[in-house]
Amino acid sequence: MTESTLVQTSAWRALVAHYQANRAIHLRDLFAQDAMRGKQLTAQAAGLYLDYSKQRVTAETLRLLAQLARERGLRAKIDAMFRGDKINATENRAVLHIALRAPRAEKIFVDGVNVVAQVHAVLDKMAAFAERVRDGEWTGYTGKRIRNVLNIGIGGSDLGPVMAYEALKYYSARDLTFRFISNVDGADFIEATRDLAADETLFIISSKTFTTLETMTNARTARAWFLARARDENAIAKHFVAVSTNTDAVRQFGIDPAHMFEFWDWVGGRYSMDSAIGLSTMLAIGPENFRALLAGFHALDEHFRTAPFEQNLPVLMGLLGVWNNNFLDAQTVAVLPYAQYLKRFPAYLQQLTMESNGKHVTLAGESISTYQTGPIYWGEPGTNGQHSFYQLIHQGTKLIPCDFIGFANPLDSLGDHHDILMSNIFAQAEALAFGKTIAQVEAEGVPAWLAPHRAFMGNRPSSVILADKLTPTTLGALIALYEHSVFTQGALWDIDSFDQWGVELGKVLAKKIIPELESVAAPALRHDSSTNALIQRYRQMRGRADTDSDE
Ligand code: F6P
Repeated sequence: MTESTLVQTSAWRALVAHYQANRAIHLRDLFAQDAMRGKQLTAQAAGLYLDYSKQRVTAETLRLLAQLARERGLRAKIDAMFRGDKINATENRAVLHIALRAPRAEKIFVDGVNVVAQVHAVLDKMAAFAERVRDGEWTGYTGKRIRNVLNIGIGGSDLGPVMAYEALKYYSARDLTFRFISNVDGADFIEATRDLAADETLFIISSKTFTTLETMTNARTARAWFLARARDENAIAKHFVAVSTNTDAVRQFGIDPAHMFEFWDWVGGRYSMDSAIGLSTMLAIGPENFRALLAGFHALDEHFRTAPFEQNLPVLMGLLGVWNNNFLDAQTVAVLPYAQYLKRFPAYLQQLTMESNGKHVTLAGESISTYQTGPIYWGEPGTNGQHSFYQLIHQGTKLIPCDFIGFANPLDSLGDHHDILMSNIFAQAEALAFGKTIAQVEAEGVPAWLAPHRAFMGNRPSSVILADKLTPTTLGALIALYEHSVFTQGALWDIDSFDQWGVELGKVLAKKIIPELESVAAPALRHDSSTNALIQRYRQMRGRADTDSDE
C-alpha cells in the first residue's frame, strides 16, 4: 500500500468533501439538532465509558471514518498482529504485547514456539521473587530485608514502571520505597540513593537491549556505589537483578542469569510495562494485583479484536484522532487525567504515541507528503492544568482536542474533594464545546469593549473517559485502549508504528562527541562550525585543553 492509496481511497475523498461541506457547523448546532447525542455518541468496554459526543463529528463523519478503516484493511491488520505476523517490517519482528496478558491456556506461536507458555513461566518466576522480597524472606548481604527498590532504565524500561507505580501507589506495599533512575545526569542517581542503606537496597537493571548508554552508565555507577559499601563482589547477587532480552550482556555485567527476568524481541520497549519490565510494579502491588492489571489489558485486547468498529473503543478513538489530526488540522492532543495518581500518565503516553507514530515514510518507504502522521501528545493532571495552560485551549488560536480521564469513585475519600474534582472535568468539557458568545456575555452586563475578551468561541473537541475506580484492572484497560488506538492510526497512515529509527542518529553522534569532551589532549573537531564552537566552549569552561578545529 502506498501513500497515494490513503488520500485516494474513496472514503478519504468523501471525508474531504464532507469536511468542506460541514466545517462551519458548531457543536452547539449538533447538540441542538439531536437531544440524544450525549447518550448516543458513547461506547463502553472493559469498565471504560467513552463519551465522544463533544467531538466535531456527525453520524456521517463516523460512517465515513469506519469506511476508511475498512478500506485500509484495519480488520486484517488487527488479525495479523494477534496472529503473531511480523508486522514490524523494518525490524522483521512480530508485535505481540497482547501475548503478555493472554491467559495461560491460550497459544500464540512465533517461529514455532508458543510464546504464551514462555510469558507465564516468567510471570511465575517474577511472582515467586516478588513474594520473597515482599515477605522479607529475600535478604541483603547483612541479613536485613530489602526496603528499597531502585529501577534503573530509560524510555520504555522506565516510563511504564514509574507511571504504573504512581498510578497504583494506593495498592502498593508501603514498607518498601520505590525509586526510578533514568537520566544519565548524575543528579538522578545521587538524589535517588543519597539516603539509602546499601544492605537494604535492590537494584533492578531494566533494559531490553542491555546496551543503552544511559542505563548502562547508571548500572555501572550503581555497582560501584554498592561495592563501595558492601566491599564484597559476592554480595551483588542479593542486590542486583536484571530484566532484559540479552542474556549474554547481563552475564557480562556480572548478574547471574538465574536472577534475570526475560522478555523477547517481539515486545516493543514502549509496549513492555506488562512484561518483566513490570517487575518493580509487581514488587509494589503484589503478584495478584499484577495479574489483575494483565486481566484489564486482556479484556480490552479482546474487545479490540472482536468488537465492530462502530462500538470499538480503541478504533473509535483512533479514528477520531485521525479526523482531528488530518481534517481539523489539530497538531496536538492534550491528555488530562483528573486523578493525581495518574500524574505520570501523559509522560508515559508521549513515548507510546510519539515514538510509535512519529514517522515520515510509509511501510514501503515512500515519503509522506500529502497527510500528517502522529500528533504531539502532552498533558498534566487536572485540575492543575486549568490554572496554567487551559487559557490557550479555551481562547487561543490553536485547536487542541482533549482527552479527559476521570473516575466515579475515589480511592481515598476526603470530604467533598472528589465531587469538586469531577465537577471540573464535566465543566471543562462543557465549556470547551459550547463556549459563551459575545451576545451572552453582553447580556450579563459586560461592556461591549470587554465582551470579546470574555467570550469563548467553543466548538473545541474533547472526549471523556470515565471509569468506576482506579484499580489495576482499569489501569490495564486504559493503557491497552491507548495502545490500540495508536495501532489503529498507524494502520490508517500505513506506517511502521513499532520501530524507532529516529532515536539512532543522536545516539551515534553522542558516542563520537563523548571522547571529544573527555580527552585530555586537544581533540581534532570535524563537525559543523556551531557544534565545534559549542564543544570548544564547553572544554574551556571545564578547564580542558583547547581544541583543534577546522576554523
Ligand atoms: O529511546 C529509544 C529506546 O530504544 C526506546 O524505544 C526504549 O524504550 C529505550 O530506548 C530503552 O531501551 P532499552 O530497554 O533497550 O534500554
